[in-house]
Amino acid sequence: MSPGVASDPYPAFRALREGFPLVRDELLGAWVVSRYADVCGALVQEGLVAVPPGRTLTHMEGHTHRAHRALVEPALRGRAVAALAAGASRTAHVLARRIAAREEADLFTEFCQWLPTAAVMAALGLPHEDTARVQVWCRGGLTHLGGHHHELDACLRPHLDRRRAHPGTDLLSVLCGAEIDGRPLSDEAVCGLVGSLLGGGGEATALAFASFLANLLDDPQQLAVVRERRALIPAAWAESLRRDPPAPVVLRRAVRRVTVAGAPLPAGAVVACLVGAANRDPARFARPDRYDIHRSDPGRLAFGTGRHACPGAELAARTAEYGLRALLDALPGLRWAPGFRPAPRGLLTRGPRTLLVRPR
Ligand code: HEM
Repeated sequence: MSPGVASDPYPAFRALREGFPLVRDELLGAWVVSRYADVCGALVQEGLVAVPPGRTLTHMEGHTHRAHRALVEPALRGRAVAALAAGASRTAHVLARRIAAREEADLFTEFCQWLPTAAVMAALGLPHEDTARVQVWCRGGLTHLGGHHHELDACLRPHLDRRRAHPGTDLLSVLCGAEIDGRPLSDEAVCGLVGSLLGGGGEATALAFASFLANLLDDPQQLAVVRERRALIPAAWAESLRRDPPAPVVLRRAVRRVTVAGAPLPAGAVVACLVGAANRDPARFARPDRYDIHRSDPGRLAFGTGRHACPGAELAARTAEYGLRALLDALPGLRWAPGFRPAPRGLLTRGPRTLLVRPR
């Protein structure tokens, strides 16, 4: 919990993985697991659920969870995502061209934060003008776990009324018109789902994209390879998510006696699954600290695993791909501003929140 760990948790992650694969952290009030196999094992356990309070998908289980997930999943994959990605691509090019005219720019505030929020707002059919407001909430704690729900609910209420009266084809209309077990979703349920989508898009993708750019800008040779061979972008993105996941810690609570990392834990125990440590476990990944765009199997653990694994992975990947393409097209000389070093921070959500660059 010390500030040093929040600025660089990886030495502590290594110490845990090597010497204390299951350890009780009194300050956190949780059992901590850090090895790849143990983290995966914990995330798929039925007896481990999200830590309350909350009203998002993450906090649902069983039939309720499956039924609500089935409502949002179709809008976040396949052709639906391709259509959204085309919108994200247009936004990315507009943002990138604006930056191209500048001497120096902060890619985090001027690009990484805008693009993912705009993509999810477009999926939901919410007005573009509200993007800035949603971003402020994302910076203040709106994640896929919810947050800021009073402001969010007040902002959404008029849109819900309108969609219920005149449904369109956007995801918000789908949610407003949906029924589960013969009953329409309440406003509360729709707002909960929308919150997790906006939070997932705005916070996690923005930080992941910032780490992606930092990894590439830190290694001009690999950046040059990606610039020449754009087909490598998805692999370069997946590898950045492995090395620097934006949600390095996923919390769970035992609803009954469970076995974690080979040891029994009682009902009520809280378990901190260190995705960030698991993603650098040398038992799973060779030379795990290195960012290597040619790594053959970076895995997908940054998105969790099991029944709660992130449904937004495909949208995030497309957003990142189109975002990077737009930047590479518009900014031929993209590099760090003189003297600048990215400083990722945070444990529950993590990434650099400033990226000063020279665009030309
Ligand atoms: C790089 C970007 C992203 C990363 C790394 C990420 C990561 C995660 C993780 C670690 C979880 C938790 C899994 C668990 O509790 O076991 C999660 C859940 C979730 N994410 Fe994402 N996410 C990203 C982008 C998105 C986007 C773009 C959306 C929406 C459009 C989204 C929506 C959600 C939702 C709704 C859940 C809850 C799923 C459930 O409980 O069934 N995420 N995400």
